[in-house]
Amino acid sequence: MYRLLLAVLGLANFPYIRTCCSPDVLQGTAMYYGYIVKEQKPYQNMIKFYYDADEKKIAMITNTMGNMTDQVRDIYDYSARKRYVITNNNTCNVTELENPFEKICVPSSANFMGSTNLGNSKANMSVDMYRMNVKKGKMSGQADIMVTPMEGGECTLVGVVMNGEKNGDFQMTETSIYMNFTFEIPDKSVFEPPKQCFKHNKMESILFEVLGGIRREIFIW
Ligand SMILES: *[C@@H]1O[C@H](CO)[C@@H](O)[C@H](O)[C@H]1NC(C)=O
Ligand SMILES: *[C@@H]1O[C@H](CO)[C@@H](O)[C@H](O)[C@H]1NC(C)=O
Ligand SMILES: *[C@@H]1O[C@H](CO)[C@@H](O)[C@H](O)[C@H]1NC(C)=O
Ligand SMILES: *[C@@H]1O[C@H](CO)[C@@H](O)[C@H](O)[C@H]1NC(C)=O
Repeated sequence: MYRLLLAVLGLANFPYIRTCCSPDVLQGTAMYYGYIVKEQKPYQNMIKFYYDADEKKIAMITNTMGNMTDQVRDIYDYSARKRYVITNNNTCNVTELENPFEKICVPSSANFMGSTNLGNSKANMSVDMYRMNVKKGKMSGQADIMVTPMEGGECTLVGVVMNGEKNGDFQMTETSIYMNFTFEIPDKSVFEPPKQCFKHNKMESILFEVLGGIRREIFIW
């Protein structure tokens, strides 16, 4: 408690005592509660996530709360360097993934803030707390994360509280809670993009071939 208090007050900068990575294969559910200042809009999402570090694939099925028909599936295929976004009206957007695959880990730059037990004296779960700076594009901020340690030095997320700002202006806050982790993915079809994801590409390549043919002809002439 004393150490935690010191850390909160910023009086001590502990070397990171332990960092951990999540198991290589898992699926589970997360609830996200957030607020975007610019849009003056609170949001609640439920996300089912699937993570396979061996295959370098992540899939997420997002449901907007209060509108269960509004569903979006995101597939990140880092081997193919492609991201597929499939909306509920079955449109598919394909974009290139620029960053390489990274395992889900507590980064070594995170500051360990202490451990505590969630629950009660009869049913409890040990959690480790970390604080870290986050940066994405022009947005920067702070994240407090809670993980539950497992045997073998692995861990899974329990909760994240994140605040983001841009040029000193508060932009968003988000709290997420993670639950129902299991360490196998019985239905791997979540990682398979539906066929409409390839239509667009094929059309593009046909067009490209036609253009190539035209260019060749022009050059020959
Ligand atoms: C998909 O559906 C949403 C509403 O659910 C609509 O706003 C959007 O225009 C649709 N997109 C296409 C490509 O039809
Ligand atoms: C693909 O994504 C872009 C940018 O996110 C969006 O403007 C466009 O409408 C999307 N296309 C389809 C077919 O959903
Ligand atoms: C956690 O639960 C165990 C029994 O399962 C109990 O002995 C221990 O005191 C509990 N710890 C806390 C902090 O409540
Ligand atoms: C979590 O798991 C329990 C038991 O398997 C299930 O009844 C419940 O619906 C799950 N909750 C979510 C949000 O996935």
